[in-house]
Amino acid sequence: MFVCMCYGITDKQIKKAVETHGVGNTRELRKIMTLGSQCGKCIESAQQIIDNTIMDETLFRDVG
Ligand code: FES
Repeated sequence: MFVCMCYGITDKQIKKAVETHGVGNTRELRKIMTLGSQCGKCIESAQQIIDNTIMDETLFRDVG
């Protein structure tokens, strides 16, 4: 699913950035990939995906 239409960034790319680079917010994300600097509509959804991914990782760690 595309999160940032302006730069063609998908939710998978964002998840991967969280998992491999430990990205915790959109500011850090923007150091790795370009998004949000065009219309800015994607920033909120990008942050939500970051939060959900971090939460999933935490749950996974608790189980494992
Ligand atoms: S959708 Fe990301 S900057 Fe426009």
